[in-house]
Amino acid sequence: PRNVKLAVIPGDGIGPEVVAEAEKVLAAATAGSDVVFDTTHFSLGAARYLETGDTLTDADLEAIAAHDAILLGAVGGVPGDARLKDANIERGLLLKLRFELDHYVNLRPSKLYPGVPGPLADPGAIDFVVVREGTEGPYVGNGGSIRRGTPHEVANETSVNTAYGIERVVRYAFDLAERRREKITLVHKTNVLVHAGGMWQRIVDAVASEHPDVAVDYLHVDAATIFMVTNPGRFDVIVTDNLFGDILTDLAGAVTGGIGLAASGNINPDGAFPSMFEPVHGSAPDIAGQQKADPTAAILSVALLLDHLGMQDEADRVTQAVEADIAERDGSTRTTTQIGDAIAVRLQA
Ligand code: NAD
Ligand code: IPM
Ligand code: MN
Repeated sequence: PRNVKLAVIPGDGIGPEVVAEAEKVLAAATAGSDVVFDTTHFSLGAARYLETGDTLTDADLEAIAAHDAILLGAVGGVPGDARLKDANIERGLLLKLRFELDHYVNLRPSKLYPGVPGPLADPGAIDFVVVREGTEGPYVGNGGSIRRGTPHEVANETSVNTAYGIERVVRYAFDLAERRREKITLVHKTNVLVHAGGMWQRIVDAVASEHPDVAVDYLHVDAATIFMVTNPGRFDVIVTDNLFGDILTDLAGAVTGGIGLAASGNINPDGAFPSMFEPVHGSAPDIAGQQKADPTAAILSVALLLDHLGMQDEADRVTQAVEADIAERDGSTRTTTQIGDAIAVRLQA
């Protein structure tokens, strides 16, 4: 049998609750296959920091990097918690993993499943993928401030954009579009961010010339938020910068039935490092520990993980089990565990 080393980072808040269900579904989906998952749990996040003072040590990173794939729940404490001010769990843990493991494609599919009550009166068919750049942009963290504590404080956050970094994610997006409905929308803010935006546009144009079958268009990010609500069916593949992609994908989650359904993969397409799969949502401190979290996003992230590992049949079975479960949701409130159990049971049948 093939052995897959899986690192699991449950994290904080609802992270451990949804990851427990995702692991349950992973086990059900792969029982009887010739792949054996050898799973290691890593205790990382705000809780670990408060206990030990560690965010992500070099030893943690090295151990995680030695796995074939990573499943992550969510990390981060209550926004504004003063005890976490110096920890910066998001930067020091989540973004550090994405950057160190060169997850340059942040893949965020959005699909409106039949039967899902969304907020749009007449949504039409929604099925698009946001290819969010994952290692550059304003997330790089270059910046600083001076005169802090005075009325003259100056704070800078520099957006770092490289031709190399843009080209590799744009190429990935075009290859994906070739396998889908052959349409790409570049989303940026080229009217204001002329330097970075101009480079994105030029690179998209250049790569587009190698893909004459793919229709390419462009939207400013503000207009993109309008169309995501008024005509989400117009999108197939969206390629965009790290920060715009972050914002657009929470909106995309909302229009396709809620953030509790939105899955993602932080992909290193070259395979030099393990890719990491996680729900788009965060640790949701407002509902943590109450069994109120929807584990579907984490479970669909398992489908992305299986697909990435070449286990298409198992991935499809997970997606189908989720679809079947969603179709029968009638607004009744089930616990996190009940939803996970119901999906896992479908996979055993
Ligand atoms: P959030 O996504 O945690 O929560 C936003 C809202 O969505 C909340 O009302 C929450 O209850 C709801 N929600 C989220 N997931 C849900 C689910 N599965 N089922 C039902 N409802 C759900 O965003 P936030 O409040 O901005 O952030 C909370 C913490 O999580 C912060 O520390 C933030 O930095 C962190 N965060 C981490 C990740 C990650 O680990 N990938 C992602 C986003 C935010
Ligand atoms: C996400 C999150 C992260 C991001 C934060 C927690 C750093 O919002 O995964 O979407 O901005 O990428
Ligand atoms: Mn986000």
